[in-house]
Parts: sequence; structure tokens; C-alpha cells
Amino acid sequence: MSILITNIKELLQIRDTTISKVSGTEMKHLPTIKNAYILIEGNIIVDFGSMNDCKDITAKQTIDATGKLVLPTWCDSHTHIVYAGNREQEFVDRINGLSYEEIATRGGGILNSAKTLQGTSEDDLYNQSIKRVKEVMQLGTGAIEIKSGYGLNVESELKMLRVIKRIKQNFPVEVKATFLGAHALPGKFQNNKDGYLNLIINEMLPKIADEKLADYIDVFCEKGYFSLVDTDKILTAGTSYGLIPKIHVNQFNAFGGVGMGVKHNALSVDHLEELNQTDIEVIKNSNTMPVALPSCSYFLSIPYTPARQLIDAGLPLALATDYNPGSSPSGNMNFVVSTACIKMKMTPEETINAATINGAYAMGISNEYGSITKGKKANLIITKEVPSYNYLPYAFGDNHIDRVIINGEII
Ligand code: NIG
Ligand code: FE
Repeated sequence: MSILITNIKELLQIRDTTISKVSGTEMKHLPTIKNAYILIEGNIIVDFGSMNDCKDITAKQTIDATGKLVLPTWCDSHTHIVYAGNREQEFVDRINGLSYEEIATRGGGILNSAKTLQGTSEDDLYNQSIKRVKEVMQLGTGAIEIKSGYGLNVESELKMLRVIKRIKQNFPVEVKATFLGAHALPGKFQNNKDGYLNLIINEMLPKIADEKLADYIDVFCEKGYFSLVDTDKILTAGTSYGLIPKIHVNQFNAFGGVGMGVKHNALSVDHLEELNQTDIEVIKNSNTMPVALPSCSYFLSIPYTPARQLIDAGLPLALATDYNPGSSPSGNMNFVVSTACIKMKMTPEETINAATINGAYAMGISNEYGSITKGKKANLIITKEVPSYNYLPYAFGDNHIDRVIINGEII
């Protein structure tokens, strides 16, 4: 099946195959073609250019995009979209004065979600999760990373990862799976952290590797959760099974998590709400992508990742939703892009780069996703009629999407 989109007001994020991420001042630049067409065949972008060169091109289906923009779908490189139930009550508790940390100390937070998930069947978990997957696809997400980490025992971590695998098999969206057994210490191991680390390393990891259930390994490296030493152990073990690190660091405290991630050649270091100069220097000498999660900062009223400091130091930056029941119950990348402009002082060009090509890099898929490039996957957002791409983050909260094409399929 071929689809030709014509009269595109502006085609955004056109790149050649050599670009896998953009950094520093390059992020201010968003290459585009005005009055453009794009041709897809099956699930691949085969051609694009100016309407002046479109004369002899025909296709099975033609979409007229007069007044509309076309851009690559969002690459959401950090989510926990597979979860059971919700944490509405904690939301109200926080409004009434409790902090995220206080709620966690009382057995709420991640342990609350784990309890619910442990009592949910695999099919029920799948059905709850795919509702959210369908929603984010409509919102323009064409590639998504999904973490485990609400199982916290062998059976339930495997249950989560099997649900992620089913999503990967049944939906056109590109899915990468991350094993986050080290998300919180389960109650049973409260006085026996080594016991839980051993369970992760000696029981969970071998089974996960055996069933090929994960691409990446993650740790919540944070005070009260997993220390630098714990993180080092888990990443060493994960790497020995071929899993690449992508880790939660510096959400509440900066104590060297970034350096630990870089030491293990992490593909990404995520959160970074608390960042110091040493962290910035460490990332500079690496291939690691820093990832900011502005919906989490918004929802928890914690600082935003200092995007200007990172980008002005010449670094790349990716943006993701962190979709999860506790710190970001939203998977809307359009909101993320707007919030990054409004609260993090990123320009629209920088946010679109961060949410497409750099997000793809943070998932290890920028050779196939994240830009309008011949040979890449046909993952496209067609907007409604809008004055310009600045309008997308500017008119925040509105849905500017007309149609989404994922893997060549109109969603
Ligand atoms: O990325 N910080 C750790 N993990 C999630 C939140 C988990 C939760 O509260 O359920 C995050 O924000
Ligand atoms: Fe997270």
C-alpha cells in the first residue's frame, strides 16, 4: 500500500541517514521543506521533496495536507505505561500536604502499585495497559520504551515483561522493553537489601535473558531506593546478559548516579531534575543521552531538568513522558513538548528535536525512527491546519493532530 501526502504546508525534521542525534546549538535548527510532499510505500518513507517535483508521482491513496504540517511521530523513550489500577488517592494526599517521599515511606508509592499489580492477572494487566497504548498512539507516539518495575518479585516482573512483549507483537508502535526490577525494595526485603539484589541478579535476570524479554536494564538510583554500589552491581549483572543500561538518576538528589551510568556506557540517564556541574562534565565525555521528563516535574511540583544548562554546554537532550501512575499519569508527548518550551525555556525547534530524533537515540532506534529520512519507518503525524510549528507548543492543551500514521498504517 502506498500513500502520497501532498501540499504539506511544512514537512519537519528532514535529515539524512548520518544523523543519529543532535546536540548543543544544532538543536536550535529544525530542517524543513515548505510546500512539500512525502511518499510512503508499505511501512517505509521512500521519497519526499518540494511539491514542484511531485508531478509524476502516483500512489494508491493520496492525502491532501493543505495548511497542515507533517512531522515524524514522537519517540517516547521513558515510560512505565504497563501498570495496574491508579494512585488517585496519593494525588489527593499530596494536595493535602504529604510529599512524594512521605507517601513512599508510609508504604504508598511504587510499593502501592506493586501490590495492585501482583494481584492483577496478566490478561487484565494487558487490557488495562493497551487502553493507554491506544491513547498515546492517537496522540502521536510511534515508538515507546516500557519498563517493568511494579512487579518486584520474579513472577510479577516476568508478568509485566510478557505484557510488554504482547504489546510489541500486537501494535504497530515500536516497543523497547526495560527491566527495572530495582525500582523499590519490596517490604519482604526491607531489612535484607542484599537478598533482593541477589534475587534480581540470580533469578530474575537469567529468566528474562532466557525468554529474551528485555532490551535494557534500569535502576532507580536514589536515596532511600538503590545506592551507587547497588546500581553498579545491577548494571554489571545486566550488562553481562547483554542488556544496555538506561537509568533513573538525580530525581531528588545528585550524588554521582550520572557518573555511574556513564561508567556503564548507559544509553541514557533520565530525570536529572537535580544536576551539578560534575554531572554535566561527565555526560560531555560520553555517548549517553540525558533525558528530561517535564510531566513528572509538573505533576510532583519538583524542579525541571535544567535544559538550558545541558544544551548550552553543547550536550544533546531528549524529552519523554515518564508515563506512570505515581509521578506522571499522562503519556501525552504534545504536553511534554509544550511544557519544555514554557517551563524549561527550550525553543520549539529544540523540543521537536528532543522528542523525535534524540528520543529515538535514547531508545537505540535512531537508524529507523525519529526523522523524515528515506528508508526510515513511515511514522508520521499530520497536524490540523495550524499557522506554523511554533503554534503546536504555544497553543498548549489543544489537540493539534489530525491523523497519525504508524508503521505505514493510518491509526
Ligand atoms: O520515573 N522515580 C522512579 N520511578 C517513577 C515513578 C514511579 C512511581 O511513583 O510509581 C518515575 O518517576
Ligand atoms: Fe520513570
